[in-house]
Amino acid sequence: MKHLSRDSRHPVSFELNGRVVEGFSEPRMLLCDFLRHEIGATGTHVGCEHGVCGACTILIDGKASRSCLMLAVQADGTEIHTIEGLTRPDGSFGILQQAFHENFALQCGFCTPGILMSLSEFLKDNPDPSVEEIKVALSGNICRCTGYTEIINACLDAAAALRASKAEAV
Ligand code: FES
Ligand code: FES
Repeated sequence: MKHLSRDSRHPVSFELNGRVVEGFSEPRMLLCDFLRHEIGATGTHVGCEHGVCGACTILIDGKASRSCLMLAVQADGTEIHTIEGLTRPDGSFGILQQAFHENFALQCGFCTPGILMSLSEFLKDNPDPSVEEIKVALSGNICRCTGYTEIINACLDAAAALRASKAEAV
């Protein structure tokens, strides 16, 4: 088996949830794998690895993006937010996480990080969404076990809590 020398890997650095992180990546390494295996940010899940399930969704420069469809080297210099960044500094749930908890909006939880990141972008632009708008926002995220009713209810609750608190972060 051929081993890559350190010289064949590229330095990659970006801001992750407000903190600069650095590592080395093979040119072909996916961003989701870099996050999980190089940085240790395992909150981002990997399902289909070809852009279908949405489990790997993160925010790159504020936009919900599939981290399995991007190479780690392409993320150099970007600003990334992942599920780890939704938790408050004291370890308590953020608004969106709390709403999911209270509505039983997850079962196995595999899809949840991707859904929360998709909705965190969505709620920033749509603070008072309709059910139909939430369904469209969730159309890129597959959940195999909860059913979407509780997820939609959680999103409605999170939107109401955000409006009430006038908070920007979910
Ligand atoms: S793992 Fe990226 S979309 Fe499924
Ligand atoms: S909670 Fe299991 S896939 Fe969504």
